[in-house]
Amino acid sequence: MTARILDGKAVAETINRETAVGAATLMRERGVRPGLAVVLVGENPASRVYVNTKEKKAAELGFHSVKVELPKECTQDRLLAEIAKLNADPLVHGILVQSPPPPQIDERAVVLAIDPRKDVDCFHPFNVGKMLIGDRDGFFPCTPWGVVVLLQRSGIEVAGKHVVVIGRSNIVGKPLLALLVQKAAGADATVTVCHSRTPDLAEHCRRADVLIAAMGRPEFVKAEMVKPGATVVDVGINRVTDPAAKNGYRLVGDVAFAEVAAVAGAITPVPGGVGPMTIAMLMRNALDACRRLTE
Ligand code: GUN
Repeated sequence: MTARILDGKAVAETINRETAVGAATLMRERGVRPGLAVVLVGENPASRVYVNTKEKKAAELGFHSVKVELPKECTQDRLLAEIAKLNADPLVHGILVQSPPPPQIDERAVVLAIDPRKDVDCFHPFNVGKMLIGDRDGFFPCTPWGVVVLLQRSGIEVAGKHVVVIGRSNIVGKPLLALLVQKAAGADATVTVCHSRTPDLAEHCRRADVLIAAMGRPEFVKAEMVKPGATVVDVGINRVTDPAAKNGYRLVGDVAFAEVAAVAGAITPVPGGVGPMTIAMLMRNALDACRRLTE
């Protein structure tokens, strides 16, 4: 079997077109432009790439797009002061502080400082709680929501299916559980969350109708861990050194793509799978934030 490729880039482009139309409508009807501020502290090269991509996409969709860059020695107080300014800025409806920050920054305090109405990452406990109880007037976190929407728009039904998630991070694994288990369209799944302390991990994976790899280990999921015909979603983006590559590294997911694609029914590529969906859902959240804040 050769798996069908789930084209996250194409689905994300469709969503981005819808978002651009939504932004143009807000401008016409209310004279407001969705504003998204992305904050980068320090010099993590991968974070820099993500932040630049988000800033560019926001501008492309007609948003007011702000990038705040702070030095790697930035203090907690300085960062909190920047967040306070963005909270108070009527032109900014969504705020994102790229994770991970440098070690002197207390990420929990940063998350709590963001106005929950502008928390387009859905990292604030107020919005995490809303997501857990299925309340749609908060936000959904971008990567897990991107996975759910990619499956939905690719015609892959998860209702009544067994979804196995590998990884229990606050950004991906735990919220995926919350989203997929809801009584809702695109959900209604039976969900198993596996992690580094799970015995017989491969055994759990082989029982999955939909297997989602989100633990940040390059090419960890092998063909023998996948039930023939299953859908495999790869959330991982890992830089592995490759002397043959122009910049000395290449990007691989958490799934050994070639061998798993020979067994799976459908699979997301890296890059071009979940990554563009994350950005599309972020833009969608910023649009929703703007709508609500200007009602
Ligand atoms: N770092 C990795 N993923 C994310 C994300 O979705 N949001 C933020 N702010 N930082 C991240």
